[in-house]
Amino acid sequence: MAQKTVKTMKELVALCKRRGFIFQSSEIYGGVASTYDYGPLGVELKRNLKEHWWRAMVQLRPDIEGIDSAIIMHPKVWVASGHVDEFVDPLVECKQCHHRFKGEDVENLDKCPVCGTKGSFTEPRLFHLMFQTYMGPIQSEENIAYLRPETAQGIYVNFENVRTPARQKIPFGIAQIGKAFRNEITPGNFTFRTREFEQMEMQYFVHPSEAEKWYEYWREQRINWYYSLAFHKDKLHFHEHEKLAHYASAAVDIEYDFPFGRSELEGIHNRGDFDLSRHQEYSGRTFEYFDQQRNERYIPYIIETSGGVDRCILALLFDSYETEPERDDPDRIRTVLKLHPKIAPVKVGIFPLVNREGMPEIAREIEKQLRPHFMVFYDDGGSIGRRYRRQDEAGTPFCVTVDGQTLEDETVTIRERDTMVQVRVKISEIPEMVQRYTDEWERDKGL
Ligand code: GAP
Repeated sequence: MAQKTVKTMKELVALCKRRGFIFQSSEIYGGVASTYDYGPLGVELKRNLKEHWWRAMVQLRPDIEGIDSAIIMHPKVWVASGHVDEFVDPLVECKQCHHRFKGEDVENLDKCPVCGTKGSFTEPRLFHLMFQTYMGPIQSEENIAYLRPETAQGIYVNFENVRTPARQKIPFGIAQIGKAFRNEITPGNFTFRTREFEQMEMQYFVHPSEAEKWYEYWREQRINWYYSLAFHKDKLHFHEHEKLAHYASAAVDIEYDFPFGRSELEGIHNRGDFDLSRHQEYSGRTFEYFDQQRNERYIPYIIETSGGVDRCILALLFDSYETEPERDDPDRIRTVLKLHPKIAPVKVGIFPLVNREGMPEIAREIEKQLRPHFMVFYDDGGSIGRRYRRQDEAGTPFCVTVDGQTLEDETVTIRERDTMVQVRVKISEIPEMVQRYTDEWERDKGL
């Protein structure tokens, strides 16, 4: 029997390219360093993931409002936020092998971890992480603008613009999903650290005396959200911060055991009143909130949950990636993405067993019926085994095959991705079966 293999970054990158999940940006020109494009399957997965977050964090909660703020903000925002002064990383280079090291790594360097040379580093230089551009036709100092390095600031500056029309009272939150940009010195590990990425952030505004309580609450909520995606629970961890960012008074990361090491997916921070106080100071507007119940005026404290869309996708791909012997042919290995059916890019693959005897016509008709309800994929290329294998690699949870018996009794086979079990059902029962299998899948995973 063929053996299971260990998953590596190389295998995953190859699968992402082969199946059209993620590939190098501007590839025909040699690519742009650490910049990636999401293909047809990748974009569906990303949309489903964001939808899952938005539903949990906004639509199912009466206390959280959504927002979509601009990427380019007033440059003063980044002075007030501390980014202009603080968002820098010390950078050193090994004089021998020219490998660069940044941030916290610089402090502990003695011997180059790459080539082994001792004490041969350039003097640390400060490197600014914000991308800078100019607004308008004149490239002068006063026209400098920045691409936002986080979506959070778009929420803080709109605190009153959201709270007043939404008639929210503290405690309440504002959530946003959007692109952020950082001129990272050492991007890498595929989409883990890139210069352009997407964040899913939520800022929860609370009374100062309740900040700790809400911090604990959001820690639990956020890890449970990752569990709801059917992650292997033993691969997710909390990491408490001892060294804090300039804005935080408490911070914890949710980390995942990637093949390249345990690394951050999301940060949960108690930001105190830092952000609103600073914007009050720099804008001249008041951010004081009058709490009618307490008969008290105060600047709300903020509990932030800040996750990366791309990192979560990468973790999901790793977590769901498995290689295992084929059921019918144990000498063959199949690669399968055991993604949660709700976020899988394609829900149902539809195949005519052969391209004749009326089978393609029926399969096309089934495709037409299902398309308004599910993301489907019609495939009539190659042997049925190869078609199953392609859908396994795409993470498609169900495959419907039209065969000779379909012509006689309007039944098809449905194959379930993880168990590879096939059952015969009436064509009219396909949507119901997909739902039932999805429910069973969730129940088996304890979701
Ligand atoms: N508003 C707080 C904030 O931005 P952060 O820890 O700097 O906090 C939050 O970033 C999340 O954004 C990270 O946990 C990560 O998922 C994602 N992220 C940050 N930098 C990234 C990068 N260069 N590439 C991909 N994702 C990144």
